[in-house]
Amino acid sequence: MAGAVRETGSYLFDNGSAHAAGQHRCLAAWLDPVSFGALRAGGVGPGMRCLDVGTGAGSVALWLAERVAPGGSVLATDLVPLPVPVRPGLTVLRHDVVRDELPPGAFDLVHARLVLSHLPEREAVLARLFAALRPGGVLHLLEFDAEYAPVLTVPDERARELYERYQRAKLRAFRARGSHQGWGRECAGALVRAGFTGVEAEVRIGTLAPGTPQLEMQLHNTWHLREALLREGLGEDELAELRGLFADPRFRACSNVVYAVRGRRP
Ligand SMILES: C[S@@+](CC[C@H](N)C(=O)[O-])C[C@H]1O[C@@H](n2cnc3c(N)ncnc32)[C@H](O)[C@@H]1O
Repeated sequence: MAGAVRETGSYLFDNGSAHAAGQHRCLAAWLDPVSFGALRAGGVGPGMRCLDVGTGAGSVALWLAERVAPGGSVLATDLVPLPVPVRPGLTVLRHDVVRDELPPGAFDLVHARLVLSHLPEREAVLARLFAALRPGGVLHLLEFDAEYAPVLTVPDERARELYERYQRAKLRAFRARGSHQGWGRECAGALVRAGFTGVEAEVRIGTLAPGTPQLEMQLHNTWHLREALLREGLGEDELAELRGLFADPRFRACSNVVYAVRGRRP
């Protein structure tokens, strides 16, 4: 593709960026209620040994640490760990889930939110997570279908065209790194193929409106992914226009489709 830099296999967002904190805050505000509901439904309680892969700012790991006390543990890993508050039983570790060792059969519960879709090796990682669970242990994944993002209302047709071009540019930038932004809809099937049983999927969709964490995250993306979006053909003036659109009370769009999927190692 003309103008695109191919860097397959490297995560496009950067936890070292000044915009990472905003991204993680929006993810937590939007998705923690969904994740916590799914984790409760799959069973979580005192004494459990948990792994949170690609923990980011650690909101899920912190929640798990409270629920598995006393006697439980949470290992929160990330390629680029961010500061996570200290809690009894919670360990934060720099760890690459694609390459670094994972202890076999060591966990009752493994959670990974918005991580595997970014990894070209996602099916191999799924097999590694299967092996890291004890028999009977549960894997929880939350992933997006970000390829579904229709506009609902806009102030004018130019704004619609700009938003749609922004969405396409973002998808191309992710694809160039080997990220599959539609993987949410394939995730349950991938768990079945990997040997998980009792696979359940909860599917949600929301509305992007000014002031919601969903739209705040898009605003952060225009800063956090600025260089990638410029490479994919958007101009600085268009990014500024998008930021204005994301504050416009006349703007509404569908959120990414959210898939909370879980399955048990037999
Ligand atoms: C979109 S963020 C999601 C963070 C967190 N799970 C959440 O939902 O709030 C993806 C996270 O995965 C981490 N990550 C990316 N590639 C990874 C890898 N190979 N091994 C471990 N973590 C990785 C990133 O550093 C980032 O913190």
